[in-house]
Amino acid sequence: MTTSPDATGRVREHFRKKAFSFDHLYDEEHALQRLLRPGLFNRRELALAVAREYESPSVLDVGGGSGRIGEPILEQGASRYVDVDLSDTMLDLARSRLARFGEKVELIQGDFLTAPITGSFDVVLALGYFDYIADAAAHARRVGELSTGSAVASFPRWTWTKGPIRKLRYEVINNCPIYDYTADDLRTLFGEAGFGRVELQEGRSGFLVRATK
Ligand SMILES: C[S@@+](CC[C@H](N)C(=O)[O-])C[C@H]1O[C@@H](n2cnc3c(N)ncnc32)[C@H](O)[C@@H]1O
Repeated sequence: MTTSPDATGRVREHFRKKAFSFDHLYDEEHALQRLLRPGLFNRRELALAVAREYESPSVLDVGGGSGRIGEPILEQGASRYVDVDLSDTMLDLARSRLARFGEKVELIQGDFLTAPITGSFDVVLALGYFDYIADAAAHARRVGELSTGSAVASFPRWTWTKGPIRKLRYEVINNCPIYDYTADDLRTLFGEAGFGRVELQEGRSGFLVRATK
């Protein structure tokens, strides 16, 4: 399956409208929010832990949005942080949040598959990203091409408790396409993208993948 320009346009429009409400989720980091959205905080913790394994890592954040993961990644010593994202409003938030880190930060607006990204990266993140990607194999291959070390990515999986409401909320109400994955899909995806080791954690409504070259 390939991502049609129309599908990409709908995702861009969704995150143009929802940038502030998505960004705000991180401000409610209290016990209830952690209970309701464990995935949001667990994936950030794994990303930070993997980045700490490298000395002054270079980090590419695919669909990095408003820089909520970028900020602690830079605080713990990243030497370069690139956020490539479709959404101008998400990147405006990232620009103000990350201004204090100066030239270590690059913000690129566009589709990850075609965006002009230079160099390679110790760590590539794709958190809350593959939910919106029709052609996951092509995007995972590009992650593989740009990574010299590790990738950390999150993926939703279908559950009968959350799946139907999620589909209704995104696809019908918000006109934004979304996709689900199985553990087998993910092993194939990262294996074919050139990662020798693929570790999966299964959570309540999705997977966290740590892949290593
Ligand atoms: C749910 S947000 C996650 C933001 C950030 N990774 C985080 O976890 O805080 C998903 C982001 O992916 C971006 N996105 C979706 N499809 C994209 C594509 N094809 N290329 C670049 N960015 C994309 C959206 O614009 C949005 O900002």
